Amino acid sequence: MSNVMADEELMCEELRAQISSAVVRAGESLAKRTTLRVGGAADIYVEPSSETDLAAVLRFCHERGVPRLILGRGSNLLIRDGGIRGVVICLAHPAFAAIEVLGCQLRGGGGARLKAVSIKAREAGLAGLEFMEGIPGSVGGALRMNAGAMGGATFDVVTHVRFMDETGELHERSASQMHAEYRSCAVLKKSVALGATFRGEPADKEEIARRSAEYNERRWQSQPKEPSAGCIFKNPTGAISAGRLIDDAGLKGARIGGAVVSGVHANFIVNDGTATAKDVLDLIELIRSRVQATWGMDLHTEVEIIGED
Ligand code: EPU
Repeated sequence: MSNVMADEELMCEELRAQISSAVVRAGESLAKRTTLRVGGAADIYVEPSSETDLAAVLRFCHERGVPRLILGRGSNLLIRDGGIRGVVICLAHPAFAAIEVLGCQLRGGGGARLKAVSIKAREAGLAGLEFMEGIPGSVGGALRMNAGAMGGATFDVVTHVRFMDETGELHERSASQMHAEYRSCAVLKKSVALGATFRGEPADKEEIARRSAEYNERRWQSQPKEPSAGCIFKNPTGAISAGRLIDDAGLKGARIGGAVVSGVHANFIVNDGTATAKDVLDLIELIRSRVQATWGMDLHTEVEIIGED
């Protein structure tokens, strides 16, 4: 066993002694924990089973200066092939996934699926959250990225956010204090989203179901079914969509290794099952330079690119 590996095992032991979590592992492969299905391993992978455990892990990392990353459902992530140094924390335990309806409001835990929140709202006759059903992420990830679809964005329907800072302290703030913008939320760059309160409007259940079905239909027609990380690039402000720019630059079907520009939507890179992170990164660069050469425009990635080569 190398020294590095021995260090990781030692750190796992120390973490296990401080928390009651079932899952603390060294060298955990992360590709299977992302929708794009590429990337290396985490030095240490932890699934806390309570907020107390999560606070202990965050303090552990903070005090030792160990880098840490929160992993949601991995639906907007591109992890490089060399993997991630430090601790990767995933809120996959059911303790973080509760959803409850309180009048016109819903509370969803950071680990709950956005789709599940949307379905719960529909069942409770609350409209306005239908757009979230097709977003494959967790509540925490959607808050962190201010994820959106069908003209709606997460913070349009959020009233409050609960989060934990890097020292393990709990906070609750109104949505307006979270500094959310298109596909980003400044406060959650450092802190961990534990959950949100969503606001719905009472409406006819059938009408809500009709809108959900319409959105689903539109999504199935306009987005690929193969593994992907959703849209790769942000839409340039005030301009036509990145998908249109890439499409009109003739890049649909362009391939590097196992990474392919989707023929269904050009802002998606799909994995044919054999892609490495490097294939995807190289294809991103190819798209960027071709769009720059064709349209004179710079595209910026929306997908979070993390880890080491
Ligand atoms: N278009 C093309 N060719 C393509 C793709 C799109 O010509 O290959 C055209 C479409 O015909 C349409 C326009 O571009 O006229 C916009 O396309 P679309 O409605 O698919 O929306 P988008 O701007 O490409 C945004 C979000 C998606 C979200 C959809 C649906 C971003 C970067 N993307 O895409 O979000 O699902 O709207 O509401 O904001 C994501 O964030 O990962 C994501 C997939």
